[in-house]
Amino acid sequence: MISKEKLYLYNLSKFKELKSYYSEQEKEILSITEFILNESLIEELIGYEYIIDITALTDINQYNVERLINLFDNSFTFIANIKHKRFFEEELRFCFDEFVIFNDYVENKDNLNDRKKTSIKKHKKIIDIEQDQLHLFFEKIDQSLYGHQKFKDDLKKQIENFRVFNKLGEHLILSLFLMGDSGVGKTEVARTIHKALGGENKMAKINFGNYSSDNSLNSLIGSPRGYIGSDDGEIFIRVAESDTGIILIDEFEKSNSTLFNYFLDVLESGRMISSLAHEIDLNGFIIIFTSNISRDNFKKVISPELRSRFDYKGYFTILKSEDKSKYVEFRLNSIIRKFNKNVDNLLDDNFKHEVFRKINVTKFKNMRDLNKSIKQVFVKELKTKII
Ligand SMILES: Nc1ncnc2c1ncn2[C@@H]1O[C@H](COP(=O)(O)OP(=O)(O)O)[C@@H](O)[C@H]1O
Ligand SMILES: [Mg+2]
Repeated sequence: MISKEKLYLYNLSKFKELKSYYSEQEKEILSITEFILNESLIEELIGYEYIIDITALTDINQYNVERLINLFDNSFTFIANIKHKRFFEEELRFCFDEFVIFNDYVENKDNLNDRKKTSIKKHKKIIDIEQDQLHLFFEKIDQSLYGHQKFKDDLKKQIENFRVFNKLGEHLILSLFLMGDSGVGKTEVARTIHKALGGENKMAKINFGNYSSDNSLNSLIGSPRGYIGSDDGEIFIRVAESDTGIILIDEFEKSNSTLFNYFLDVLESGRMISSLAHEIDLNGFIIIFTSNISRDNFKKVISPELRSRFDYKGYFTILKSEDKSKYVEFRLNSIIRKFNKNVDNLLDDNFKHEVFRKINVTKFKNMRDLNKSIKQVFVKELKTKII
């Protein structure tokens, strides 16, 4: 078990300040309860820098608390009500190195605003990678995305072309449209590219499922000056915060024609303009659109103009058993490594093979479900070993 650095203890009477402190950094606080109900959510949110309030863990026993906390990685920040300081210091002593009282939201407020104004983040882009370093980028993609060999070959060609024609000023944004079943790695493609570009911040991700109303364009690119809440919209905030030139638009088909047209223009012009006339230059960016629609529906839902604007359209199919097995092996290695770090190398290769043997990959189409099963079998096997 690797312990997390810090647990921040806050005073409930200051929760409002705490919330606004984090929301200024565009970070959201989620309760651990959501993850207790749905552990696979953790996996989905890894890399997005969420703040997790673990106060509700006071009702759960130590074994389960440790197990749960261990599923998170370091991209998460943990907070809890200081009222239970004693409980956390005792029960979670293996989970956290330090228990600190959190009052930054008072002291650092000015600081934070200054930082926000002055720091202009530079996005790391695929067009800026040196030619002799490019193979490292592709290697990372190869290693982190299982299966989908044809897509990976195609992506390589797309990127090589893009880098040439972008220099000539002929190709401003590389756009990929990925379709296919749920849980086969569409979103993972974007995450992998973000990481391979060296992304340390949260990737710019917009879920169009949240933008299906008539007013959607306003919330996405901001409402005109003078309107209530006139501000840049979500996509501007997300892109400004990210440190890589990749944007992920999830569930693209859920939106409406106004937004489709907006993106038609963005792909054409290589820039985004908010309703407050702020402009973001997207030259050299990769935009990934994902969708669960079937091949047939693609033609019905997405207009021909837009369809022809995507540089690449790919259909993701269920992974082969061989690739799923590789994924299981990778996950088990990573879980066991984390576990052994704190528990005296308790788990050996025999244990791994035992777990591996009990997972039937052919049963799973969705990798999220496979992942859940890996965790369940792991815990079950662990119990027989410990008792
Ligand atoms: N081909 C893959 N390679 C590596 N991980 C994958 C792959 N497919 C799915 N996963 C894992 O399964 C989970 C769901 O994948 P995701 O990309 O979010 O699915 P979707 O296709 O619905 O966007 C993620 O945690 C991801 O890490
Ligand atoms: Mg997805």
